[in-house]
Amino acid sequence: MSRLIVVSNRVPLPDENGVPPAGGMAIALKAVLKKEHGFWMGWSERVVAEDAPPELTPLQDDGINYQLVDLSQRDLDEYYEGFANRVLWPIFHGRPDLAEYSEARRAGYHRVNKRFAELLNPLLRDDDVIWVNDYHLIPLAEELRKLGCSNRIGFFLHIPWPPADIFSTVPKYDALLRGLSFCNLVGFHTDYDLSNFLECLNREEQGKRIEEGFYAAYQNEFRCGVFPISIDTANFESLAENAARNERLQVTYPRMVGYDIAIGVDRLDYSKGIEKRIVAFRDFLRSHRERVDKTLLLQITPKSRASIPAYRVVQKDVAELVGRVNGELGTVDSVPVHYINKSVGQSELAGLYRKARIGLVTPLRDGMNLVAKEYVASQDPLDPGVLILSRFSGAARKLGAAMLVNPYDTEEMARTMEKALVLPRGERIDRWRAIMTVLREHDVHKWCSDFLSSLNRH
Ligand code: UDP
Ligand code: G6P
Repeated sequence: MSRLIVVSNRVPLPDENGVPPAGGMAIALKAVLKKEHGFWMGWSERVVAEDAPPELTPLQDDGINYQLVDLSQRDLDEYYEGFANRVLWPIFHGRPDLAEYSEARRAGYHRVNKRFAELLNPLLRDDDVIWVNDYHLIPLAEELRKLGCSNRIGFFLHIPWPPADIFSTVPKYDALLRGLSFCNLVGFHTDYDLSNFLECLNREEQGKRIEEGFYAAYQNEFRCGVFPISIDTANFESLAENAARNERLQVTYPRMVGYDIAIGVDRLDYSKGIEKRIVAFRDFLRSHRERVDKTLLLQITPKSRASIPAYRVVQKDVAELVGRVNGELGTVDSVPVHYINKSVGQSELAGLYRKARIGLVTPLRDGMNLVAKEYVASQDPLDPGVLILSRFSGAARKLGAAMLVNPYDTEEMARTMEKALVLPRGERIDRWRAIMTVLREHDVHKWCSDFLSSLNRH
C-alpha cells in the first residue's frame, strides 16, 4: 500500500495547554492524514544550536505519525520569519510595500528547503506519494529531484498566487517558478490564482500548454489545477450541535443572552482586515444607537508571527482601536468589542459561531478562509445567522449566497451589518441552505481525494 507523505512547515501538534495552532492549512490536512497511511514531516517547534546535526525525530500524536525537524534561530530568522513571512507572505497577499527582502533571507530559505529534502529522501519508498504544502517549501521538489527522488510530488499553495506584476517584486522570483516545475502537480485554491501563476510563467516565456491541465516549463512537464480547500463539514455540524454540552460554553452562553453577536475569528494578521472591520462595527453602532448595549463584536484573535514588525504594528493598532471604540460606545453595563488574543479550540469555536447572528469574515486578501465555512456549518438550520464575506477571500468564489462586501469600504460593511440583523428568517435559511449545499458536496475529504487522484493520474 503506497504511503502519503505530507510535508509542511507547521504541523498541528497542540501547545502545552493542549490547544492546536490556529491556521487553516494544518487543521485541514489533519482531517485528511488521519484517514491515510503515511507520515507528516514538519518543524518540531524546537530551536537548536546552529551546529546541531540535522535529524528527524519520530512522534505519534492523535493517530498521526510525524517526522519532525529542528531548526536553529538563524534558520527561523532567515527561512521562516525572513523569506517566508517577511517577503513571500506580504507579496503574495498584495502588500509588496511590507516586504523586507535580504539576500541572507533568500539563501536561508533555500538552505532549509535543501535540508528538508536531505532528511526526507532517505525515508522514501518507491511508491510513496509526497504532498508538499505552502509557500515555505516552494523549492522542496527541486531539491528532492537533485537527490534522485523520482516519487510523485504534489504541491498545494494555501495562500493566493498574486498577479504577475506583484509576483515579480520578489527578487530572483524565477527560482520559485522553476522550483514548482519539478512537481507532478501544482494546486491552487481558485481559478484566479491559477491564471495568475500561468501569466507569471508566460512572462518568463515559459509554461507552454501541452494539453488540458498540462504545462511544460523549464524543461519539465507538470499538471496544474484548482482545488478549493474546505472543512470537515459533517464534523463541524455535529460539534456545533453538541456545543451546549461544552463545559466552558455552559458558563459563556448565559452571558450572551440578550445580545446580538457578530463574531470574527482570525490570526492577528494584517491581511485579515481586522481594523477596517472594527471601524465598520463602530460606524454601524454610531448610526444605530438603539443597538448599543444589545450588540457586541466577539473578536477572537490569537497572536501570530509576533516578532515580525508588521505584525507588531497591527497588534498595537488593533488594541488601541478596540480601546477607543469601547471608550466611546461602552457603557457601565457592557463593552461593544470583546477582543481576545487567545486561541480557542474547535469545539468551543463551533458553539460560539452558532450563537452569533453574524459571521464577519472580511480579509483584505485571503487564499480561502476556512472560518467562513466553519461559521456556516455551525449554524442552527432552523434559525441560522448570516455570513458577511469579503469579496477578496477565495471562499467568496463559491459562496455567493453570503452577503459579499468590499472590506475596504467600511460604510458598505456597516450598512451590511444592519441588513444582516434584520434579514427575515426565510431569507437567512435560503442563504444558509445554498451555502451548505456547496459545503456538503465540497468538504475537506473531497478536496483531498480530488488533489490526490489528480496527482496519481498519468
Ligand atoms: N482557529 C482556531 N482557533 C482560534 C482561531 C482560529 O482553531 O482561536 C482555526 C479556525 O477554526 C480555522 C483556522 O484556525 O480552522 C484558520 O483558518 P483560515 O483559513 O480561516 O485562516 P488562516 O489562519 O489559515 O490564514
Ligand atoms: C496560514 C498559512 C499556513 C500557516 C498558518 C499559520 O494558514 O497558509 O501555512 O501555517 O497560516 O501561520 P504560522 O506562521 O503560525 O504557521
